[in-house]
Amino acid sequence: MSSEPLVPRPPALPDLTGLPAGFLWGVATAAFQIEGDAEHRGRSIWDRLCERPGWIVDGSDAQVACDHVHRYRDDVELMAGLGLDAYRFSISWPRVQPGGKGPLSAAGLDFYDRLVDALLEAGIQPWITQYHWDLPEELEDAGGWAERDVVDRFADYAVSVHAALGDRVRHWATLNEPWCSAWLGYGSGEHAPGRADHRLAARAAHHLLLAHGRAVAGMRAQAPADHQLGIVLNLFPVRMDPAVTRADAVRVRQAVDRLDGLQNRWWLDALFEGRYPADILALLERHLAGVVEDGDLEEISQPLDFLGVNYYHDALITAATPEAADERGPYPGMSGVGPAEPEGEATSMGWPVTPRGLRDILVRVGVDHPAAPPLVVTENGSAWDDAEPDADADADAEQPGTLEDVRRVSFLYEHLSSVADAVRDGADVRGYFAWSLMDNFEWACGYSQKFGLVQVDFDTLERRPRASYAAYRAAVEAARGPGRRGPG
Ligand code: FCB
Repeated sequence: MSSEPLVPRPPALPDLTGLPAGFLWGVATAAFQIEGDAEHRGRSIWDRLCERPGWIVDGSDAQVACDHVHRYRDDVELMAGLGLDAYRFSISWPRVQPGGKGPLSAAGLDFYDRLVDALLEAGIQPWITQYHWDLPEELEDAGGWAERDVVDRFADYAVSVHAALGDRVRHWATLNEPWCSAWLGYGSGEHAPGRADHRLAARAAHHLLLAHGRAVAGMRAQAPADHQLGIVLNLFPVRMDPAVTRADAVRVRQAVDRLDGLQNRWWLDALFEGRYPADILALLERHLAGVVEDGDLEEISQPLDFLGVNYYHDALITAATPEAADERGPYPGMSGVGPAEPEGEATSMGWPVTPRGLRDILVRVGVDHPAAPPLVVTENGSAWDDAEPDADADADAEQPGTLEDVRRVSFLYEHLSSVADAVRDGADVRGYFAWSLMDNFEWACGYSQKFGLVQVDFDTLERRPRASYAAYRAAVEAARGPGRRGPG
């Protein structure tokens, strides 16, 4: 076998000049995807989905996942090795409040207590996400996010967790990507709870925001002045494929606007303008009858201290064969359109590599919403298979034994450059969290998609840093100069 690399060499370090002083560097994970130890927590909607035959592509579940509950000290050490300022993780609602109501479980909280202490000892700020998709299944049985009762349940849970850990944790995000909870959970049904009904999805889209607002109000009332409260959205530019013909252009343009409305404007307008976009309200009108009550939007648009932006790729929309019934598509108003084939390289998820979109969306938020708080990129990363040549066989490798993942490094550096471009173009971006520290349970893709800077062998649970781990550390060090960290 030739020892010539089969893929291009890693790119040079990105130009990160212009990032603000104290720019925060981190990695992100989510409870269900890494924790395991399922026997010591309540069940969530994802546990149930994993039991549905055929739902998870590799037939796996997250009973053990990365066994992070037992190996968190090793994982904190890996983070310390990256020289990070911060770690974004989520709390498992069914671990700390099984069943979704009642007093918090002391045993469940104990794990997060120990994790927070270990992070602080390592000089790493904990950034907590209160909800990253693992709704207690009892709440789903009561209607889940489609029913208004869930709003008080979430606020109660979030405020109680904040009271329990707020003595040491200053950064709190309520929800991760509520668009996914609503439209993948209840619209396409690809995510838990696996229901496909636009009516339920539209209702969920409102209740999620209301739950966020109510939780923020409750946390704010008890929080010390230095606590930073926010939410995490998945935002991206939606563009029309320039290859669309004149005959299709009007239809595709309308779909682009609707998709942008459902994906971006619905959340941003509600949070930062205190109203829903009129075109999307009209689109969802029949699903939302009686759902949006007086005062809801005031509650939703509480002042925030940061907005987390998760970014993976943009959307290029093209003409497709019209579907017989639009209601069978994942989102309303999308009949006859679909994503264009990626123009260039695609990740193992099939996602196009579109770093420019990150710059564009970060700049846009500030342009469209001057009152929006500072931004933090709370997730960004890519999945590739491990087929690249192993550094063991590569004489030029930076560190013998490192797993080469040149494409993951290129993706990382191109997106970091894009963040710096956004800052130079006026976006107020304060930090970046790579997704993800390690390979994990990638939802409906099971363990088949590998987003980790660190590889996990799911038979032995052994962790092994990839070249992207060292590459991320090098970028962080270059950006802030050796020995310096962001503010505590
Ligand atoms: C995001 C999710 C995260 C992970 C990445 C790949 O949408 O927030 O949990 O699955 O995608």
